[in-house]
Amino acid sequence: MSEPHRTFAGKSVLITGAGNGIGKATALHLARLGALVGVNDLRENFVAETVAAIEAEGGRAVGITQDVAQRDLMREVVARFAGEAGRLDGMVNNAAWVRYQPLAEIAPETVERMLNIGFKGIIWGMQAAAEHMAGPGSIVNIASAAGFRSTPGSVVYSGIKAGVMGMTRAAAVDLGARKIRVNAIAPSATPTEGTMRNRNAERDAKRIAQTPLARLGEVDDMARAITFLLSDESQYITGQVLPVDGGIGTSFL
Ligand SMILES: NC(=O)c1ccc[n+]([C@@H]2O[C@H](COP(=O)([O-])OP(=O)(O)OC[C@H]3O[C@@H](n4cnc5c(N)ncnc54)[C@H](O)[C@@H]3O)[C@@H](O)[C@H]2O)c1
Repeated sequence: MSEPHRTFAGKSVLITGAGNGIGKATALHLARLGALVGVNDLRENFVAETVAAIEAEGGRAVGITQDVAQRDLMREVVARFAGEAGRLDGMVNNAAWVRYQPLAEIAPETVERMLNIGFKGIIWGMQAAAEHMAGPGSIVNIASAAGFRSTPGSVVYSGIKAGVMGMTRAAAVDLGARKIRVNAIAPSATPTEGTMRNRNAERDAKRIAQTPLARLGEVDDMARAITFLLSDESQYITGQVLPVDGGIGTSFL
């Protein structure tokens, strides 16, 4: 197989929640393209594993174990990575903690935790990234197909992801003059450890039957779309939400 073009050589990209799932796949993909990747996660062993996987392939990464749900901690993470990298070109706000609960059972603690990580955390991430980006820069937020259409028990999750779409558009307006682009992807069901508790074979089969491309998402599908939005290939695109869903969001299959 031929070597990937090192289109991110000399660039640095920070990814939150990069110890697993979509974040990890994106970290590996960007490192193969030559980026210096900031690997943040709450779990130290996950950070170490992602960094080791990147280095084993000859890539470069900086591991930062930290909870990014609080503004001051997020600021520390971004400042540390930007300091070590000497610049910040891209940021992927990917970390989330997800629970599905029927409306009648939604508990305040669940809402609070989901909001702190998946909603406020993205605001703090964009704010801190913008502070360190000289421009041009690119921020990619991870929304969800659930921000467009809902499954049972997803009041909090769907609400947050629709909010992520709104804040992506608004931040693009605020940051455009500084040549900082802000976009989001909206993945459909993509098997990862984080989604295991909400998935079953019957529901997967139903989803596949409703998807024009006739399969579930894969973490590499998401990594490629995120990479496009981080790259110069999308230099005139901002404020957009890109569904990466095999067509399920637009079909009546
Ligand atoms: N997998 C899917 O089907 C799917 C679909 C739509 C959207 N998404 C979104 O994609 C993103 C990644 O999801 P995933 O499926 O890869 O999840 P995952 O659970 O596999 O990975 C998420 C990572 O984030 C880390 N994390 C959680 N809280 C954190 C915090 N406070 N600070 C730092 N790191 C933290 C976790 O330790 C974990 O390693 C999420 O925003 C999720 O909502 C996923």
